Amino acid sequence: MKGPRERPRRLRRNETLRRLVRETRLSADDLVFPLFVTEGKTQPIASMPGQFRWSVEEAAKQAEQIASSGIPAVLLFGIPAEKDEVGSQAYARDGVVQQAIRKIKAAAPELLVIGDVCLCEYTSHGHCGIINAAGEVLNDETLELLARTAVSQAEAGADIVAPSDMMDGRVAAIRSALDEAGLSEVAIISYAAKYASAFYGPFREAAESSPAFGDRRGYQMDPANRREALREVNLDLAEGADIILVKPALSYLDLLRQVREVCPVPLAAYNVSGEYAMVKAAAQAGWLEEKRVVMEILTAIKRAGADIIITYHAPDVVKWLKE
Ligand code: PBG
Repeated sequence: MKGPRERPRRLRRNETLRRLVRETRLSADDLVFPLFVTEGKTQPIASMPGQFRWSVEEAAKQAEQIASSGIPAVLLFGIPAEKDEVGSQAYARDGVVQQAIRKIKAAAPELLVIGDVCLCEYTSHGHCGIINAAGEVLNDETLELLARTAVSQAEAGADIVAPSDMMDGRVAAIRSALDEAGLSEVAIISYAAKYASAFYGPFREAAESSPAFGDRRGYQMDPANRREALREVNLDLAEGADIILVKPALSYLDLLRQVREVCPVPLAAYNVSGEYAMVKAAAQAGWLEEKRVVMEILTAIKRAGADIIITYHAPDVVKWLKE
């Protein structure tokens, strides 16, 4: 008898067999859908086809649809009408995100609401913290404002807060502030390993949050570093993070794998705006098959180690999974 003895192709012969031996399965349960909420009227986001800045009213309607589609959670970003030096709309009791949280919780009580905790959408200079006269982002002074932001979102009804600013010590500062405010049940998703990535470009247009001067390399991580990410993860775990996040996802799959090996808590990956825009642009040009490419990317992110995937593709994915 000629030919190989080992024949892996035996298990690939038809879809039923492939289904039986499939190692990774995407499900609606894995997904978080980011929503942008504006104090103005609903507008499309040019750099992110299919995504919108929603008015508070319409964000609540969207959230209801998301909940009924089976997606467990939304992540909220606010675009305030007024920005200032200290980002005061981030922690205003009636800030745009706080209003949206209340409306969404009333419309879809079972949907998990996650608040992004950062100042860059709220500061006139577009940095993620407060700055001094030299334009440096001040770490410890910023912590207090981040903690206030987290508490005000939790008081409005957020189930989870997700600090994305990359200041040192913010998980501990937010945890103590929440506990002191009697909000010990509110969880923290920490953007532990968040890189200074060019893949956030479309988001910054969407959130009008590009830095007016300089860049974010003084606080976000250098894309060349892997060991440093493990240090950040360990610090955030020690400070009380309930879920760890790696961001972006696609160019950092090695990190997702490595963090998964050492991390005892759920691991999330953020499939960011630039990753979304690349697929959308190529699909619009007819160069890529959108559905297959998206499913392959998200499956790869899950295979690499993510338990949770934050993605703008979430509503499409849920539709495709039902087909
Ligand atoms: C806020 C924040 C950003 C993103 C999430 N939270 C932008 C940034 O750090 O500049 C990016 C998300 C995306 O690109 O989809 N700090």
